[in-house]
Amino acid sequence: MREDDFIVSKTNAKGIITYGNPIFIEFSGYSESELLGTQHNIVRHPDMPRAAFKLAWDTIQAGQEFFAYVKNMAKDGSFYWVFTHITPDFDASRNIVGYTSVRRCPRREAVAKVEPVYRQMLEAEQRAGARDAIGAGTAVLLDLLKQTGMSYEELVFAL
Ligand SMILES: Cc1cc2nc3c(=O)[nH]c(=O)nc-3n(C[C@H](O)[C@H](O)[C@H](O)COP(=O)(O)O)c2cc1C
Repeated sequence: MREDDFIVSKTNAKGIITYGNPIFIEFSGYSESELLGTQHNIVRHPDMPRAAFKLAWDTIQAGQEFFAYVKNMAKDGSFYWVFTHITPDFDASRNIVGYTSVRRCPRREAVAKVEPVYRQMLEAEQRAGARDAIGAGTAVLLDLLKQTGMSYEELVFAL
């Protein structure tokens, strides 16, 4: 990503894309009509551990904001790293009606620190097999948090 760019997208409550700003469209490599109405995992990169998305969904479905470094894949197979902030959108009765994500350019040093953590999580998930993958990936992350004595958010902002 470029220093001053913001990649913005919105989804409905089920993660179907309802809006993408021009920079999201540019980086994804898809057209606006290919993106709208499609699950947001269209930009998922296979290097990302499943446990990272489980944590994301658990957090935002609980009505909280979520921060993470994410490796995304464009239509042509190339990748781009982002630092993302996802927030729930509420109606007047505090029901979650969708989510908004704003991503900015991550610091290279932070990406270099996150990459091996995601790799370890992914390897644990692959060893565990599909059924136990999320538990195995989550265990790697929880272990790291225990070692550092930080919460997930503290760790993300310490990178
Ligand atoms: C607002 C919003 C933005 C999202 N942005 C991304 C994203 O940029 N990249 C990504 O891989 N997943 C993103 N997700 C998560 C996806 O919905 C999905 O959970 C993830 O790609 C994992 O796909 P899977 O559940 O099919 O394994 C986003 C979800 C929401 C609600």
